[in-house]
Amino acid sequence: MKSLANSEQNILIDKVSDDIELSNISSINFKGLPGDKNNYYDKKLIITIVSNKGGVGKTSIAIAVAMFFSKEIKKKILLLELDSSPGDFGVIFDIENNKSLELALRFPEKYNEYVKNIYKNVDALKGMSNPLIAENIKKDAVNLLVDFISKDYDYIIVDTQTVINGPVLDILKLSDEILAISEYSLESIARVSSLIDTLVKKFSIPEYKIKFIVNKRKFLHIFKVWDISKIIKMPIYAFIRFDGKFSKSKFIFNKGSIFNTRFFKEIKKIFKKNIGINNDVER
Ligand SMILES: Nc1ncnc2c1ncn2[C@@H]1O[C@H](COP(=O)(O)OP(=O)(O)OP(=O)(O)O)[C@@H](O)[C@H]1O
Ligand SMILES: [Mg+2]
Repeated sequence: MKSLANSEQNILIDKVSDDIELSNISSINFKGLPGDKNNYYDKKLIITIVSNKGGVGKTSIAIAVAMFFSKEIKKKILLLELDSSPGDFGVIFDIENNKSLELALRFPEKYNEYVKNIYKNVDALKGMSNPLIAENIKKDAVNLLVDFISKDYDYIIVDTQTVINGPVLDILKLSDEILAISEYSLESIARVSSLIDTLVKKFSIPEYKIKFIVNKRKFLHIFKVWDISKIIKMPIYAFIRFDGKFSKSKFIFNKGSIFNTRFFKEIKKIFKKNIGINNDVER
């Protein structure tokens, strides 16, 4: 699991004082491996948001990323929910029960009948609400569905549940980028770090595809580098600050209102900074 960036990070940690704020370290050297910029314009991309910790912001981040692509790149985006715990899409996007992943998996050739347009170029496919059915999804069913979906969409942004099941693993294997989300606490960072370890070692997910993002960072809460260096095994790609004015329920009332939130601006910054989007390019 040791990468070049990781060994550099360790060297750096040796040199800095013990009580430096973690985010300062981040801005020096936690940006991921060199040359990992993605060409978001030309590629078809599957981006999956995972975490084995509940309430860390997976759904909020998935929706914000979809809205970001909607605004900046203006291509077709599908928000796919792989959360049967149950998920939030039904309520947030007011999707009827008869439109869901369950039917889309059963009839992948007409999956678009189960998709709902939620904002301009963004559609959503709600997850199934029965976890037992989700457990019994046949292997390859997800692959077949994704084959059909990627003929019509440029980006598939996948929101997942806390428990990693078969369908989530199937989509992780197909994903170009995986955002692993932790809350801003040592125990959450340790837990997500061990999930990443499992994904890489046990399920052979390439480590370079995984970006470790820490959400809900609060200013008053400062970690000691020494604490972090003991539990973290990969670079932290980005931090998202806690935004007291943000709420996932904003999407219910006015989807566009997310653009003015600090939460969205942070997501935008992370993606813009790392992919070199040029504002002048209209596509
Ligand atoms: N940066 C942030 N600042 C403030 N609130 C946030 C932030 N990120 C997420 N939240 C809030 O945290 C709560 C949990 O977020 P969300 O439902 O997106 O997490 P989740 O990981 O999808 O949860 P679950 O495990 O239940 O699926 C929501 O109320 C959301 O509005
Ligand atoms: Mg969620």
